Amino acid sequence: MIDLSWVIDPIYIATIFFFIVGLQRMSHPLTARSGIVWAGAAMVIATLVTFLTPNLTNFALMAIAIVIGGGFGYFAAKRVAMTDMPQMIALYNGMGGGAAAGISAVALLSTTNPATSALAVVGGLIGGVSFAGSIIAFLKLQGWMRPRPITFPGQKILNMAVLALAIIAGVLVVLQPAWVPLSVSLYLPLFFILALGFGLLMTLPIGGADMPVVISMYNAFTGLAVALDGFSFATPNYAMVIAGIIVGAAGSLLTLNMARAMNRSITNVFFGAFGATEEKDVQIQGSMKSIEADDAAILLAYADKVIIAPGYGMAVAQAQQKVKELADLLESKDIPVKFAIHPVAGRMPGHMNVLLAEAGVSYDHLFDRDEINPEFPSTDVVLVIGANDTVNPASHRQGSPLFGMPILDVDQAKNVVVLKRGQGKGFAGIENDLFYRDNTRMLYGDAQETVGKLVQALKKL
Ligand code: TAP
Repeated sequence: MIDLSWVIDPIYIATIFFFIVGLQRMSHPLTARSGIVWAGAAMVIATLVTFLTPNLTNFALMAIAIVIGGGFGYFAAKRVAMTDMPQMIALYNGMGGGAAAGISAVALLSTTNPATSALAVVGGLIGGVSFAGSIIAFLKLQGWMRPRPITFPGQKILNMAVLALAIIAGVLVVLQPAWVPLSVSLYLPLFFILALGFGLLMTLPIGGADMPVVISMYNAFTGLAVALDGFSFATPNYAMVIAGIIVGAAGSLLTLNMARAMNRSITNVFFGAFGATEEKDVQIQGSMKSIEADDAAILLAYADKVIIAPGYGMAVAQAQQKVKELADLLESKDIPVKFAIHPVAGRMPGHMNVLLAEAGVSYDHLFDRDEINPEFPSTDVVLVIGANDTVNPASHRQGSPLFGMPILDVDQAKNVVVLKRGQGKGFAGIENDLFYRDNTRMLYGDAQETVGKLVQALKKL
């Protein structure tokens, strides 16, 4: 058979270029979709070219694994509802971490080089933690496990002890000292059990509201594990090393940005048990006052300026098309409309941007929190469409579980109309002070329906 292995490294370098272009394109909503195609194509090419590796065996097993994994991934991703996307990302990310841990295990069983083993151990530890942690994140987001933080006395000490034992087991795997009575075949599984145990234990005390930060951090972990694994082969696999570093770096930046958006430090996310404490004895002043669509439409028709603050409920209701219709209608009546986008509105980074872009809302109508907050006091009507935590002024109150989270200051507007189905709480599970304010009116119903009613009522005016 002709040896084509010389093409592997040049093609890997080409795929790395594709990955970088893909990532660059993903940084803007308008080009994000094509960015996914670039990165996906790079992944397919890198996988195919790997089959040219000399002396490769087990072709059939690899083909079966690719068909099962690829088939499951394809159909699951096709069927998943947009609102369930975060847990799907958590699950797939966990699979990446698990695969990295698997590669480490194979490397550790086949190498005697201590430097390679050390890299494989670190990759295995990080990959194992990412796998177990992502599975817990998936279960919490899917609602198959209590989303609130699970805490117990002595938890931090136990976590640290399990991590320390995992590190000791990893060191033994690398050094294989003669004075240790057990063989490597015994403490290698122990190392992985401890790594998985640590991932599980460290994710249990993290509440649902912090999950976006956690998922993106495990994503960075998976990238790092893959990069380290890239060095654990007889000849380093540069595609794995560089792709892993790109994922690790991008994931770390995303983690820091999201943590900043929620005003949380990373240590606070992992050790603060956000949402573990309930605010006691808080009496919110005022009462909730409802409004009908016809009256809300009159408010809108007489407004000089309208801001729309969308949230998770808009995604649930799939109301983005109707929202765009409403915005167009208002603008046709010379009433300027802006969209206020909170970085963690919805259930995944960029959730609102993606939905609104899909509906055709032009990107120059979207404003992030820092840009739009100074505009609320001079705004006649703010429509809060299915947002809750991201507009909750309780975040200004010391003692509130949301304390310190920067919000959209919609309560500063002259009139606020909140579109939601009923008295349901937001993701953090706490009451929203905004709904009780004098300038707030509640327009109850599924957001697609109520926005539709606003459009009809406005057309009649
Ligand atoms: P949330 O606080 O999640 O509140 C959504 C609101 O939408 C609910 O109060 C619900 O009230 C309403 N709703 C649900 N279905 C609706 C429908 N069909 N029509 C109208 N309203 C509907 O929303 P948010 O302000 O976007 O905040 C996001 C939260 O999720 C934050 O706490 C954030 O930390 C967290 N989180 C974010 C992410 C990312 S990365 N974005 C990922 C995971 C978690 P009713 O039940 O009364 O209708």
